[in-house]
Amino acid sequence: MHIIDFRSDTVTKPTKAMREFMLAAEVGDDVFGDDPTINELERMGAEMFGMEAGLYCSSGTMTNQIAINVHTQPGDEVICHEEAHIYRYEGGGIAKNSGASVRFIRGNQGRINPDEIVDNINPNDQHYPVTTLVSIEDTANRGGGMCYDFEDIKRISKICKENRLAFHLDGARVFNVLEVNKVSTLEYGRQFDTISICLSKGLGAPVGSLLLGNKEFIAKARRVRKAFGGGMRQAGIIAAGGIFALQNNVARLSVDHENAKRVEEILASKNWVKEVLPVQTNIVVALLSEGINEADVVTQLREKGILCVGFGKGRVRFTTHLDISAEDIDRLASILPTDL
Ligand SMILES: Cc1ncc(COP(=O)(O)O)c(C=O)c1O
Repeated sequence: MHIIDFRSDTVTKPTKAMREFMLAAEVGDDVFGDDPTINELERMGAEMFGMEAGLYCSSGTMTNQIAINVHTQPGDEVICHEEAHIYRYEGGGIAKNSGASVRFIRGNQGRINPDEIVDNINPNDQHYPVTTLVSIEDTANRGGGMCYDFEDIKRISKICKENRLAFHLDGARVFNVLEVNKVSTLEYGRQFDTISICLSKGLGAPVGSLLLGNKEFIAKARRVRKAFGGGMRQAGIIAAGGIFALQNNVARLSVDHENAKRVEEILASKNWVKEVLPVQTNIVVALLSEGINEADVVTQLREKGILCVGFGKGRVRFTTHLDISAEDIDRLASILPTDL
């Protein structure tokens, strides 16, 4: 049976061209700073977003968790959305790795409202944790891949500066954002102190994420990466996939967005779907009709060769990516039943 895998944009496999590029990569011991491919990838990422330096890590969880660790002291507080990946899906890392607490802000489809930040910064009083960091996610995964309005990001950046808070971006899908709002990487990057970007999601590299920031921050981050066991040796062979991805797979993200729009339409026409969250990028979240269970939907669709994931009570998520073609969407339209 032909399987169409909408579970995540992390399921992509490197293409022949990417593999050939990886095979030819020059490598060295990166803990000694000797891997020319990693050095090049870190330089490329930093330059793109106007940052001084970069650090290649094995995952987006690692880049986010290192950033939190460098920005905070144990007992400090991190402001984020209640559905943020850094809190919900990183194994309790904020508490476990950094001993920090979290202050949630609610908001529209995974995005925090800038107006709510100031009231959530703790006063300078011994009773309260010290607020040191604001972290946002753009696109917002739990919010169905929505992008922040760039004006809101500028406002949050200003609030952080005025209140001496660090501002971190979980930019696992930042290139999807920039495809939609057409803001340049440089202008966007200027708003943040630190940025995490994932190479192994929409960009299709097999492994890795980049953490970007100023030289001082990245020097500290490098020490934390080592302590987390994330210092790698001849990892240029996988980092090359990241270089290839940045050079070849950014512009095509618009195709994933077009495909996602079609998935939205298809799902919205089904009786088992009550509503589809507005779609801006490559993530489509369907809210199921009364009495329909997400686990049953996932199982029934799997039997038809369609893979998706349960996304909390009464929700399923479909994600489009490099390995899903327009023909796959045609197939989805012909396979998905009107009733379940
Ligand atoms: C918004 C967001 N941030 C961070 C991550 C973590 O990335 P990784 O799976 O590489 O740890 C993910 C992964 O899906 C994500 O969706």
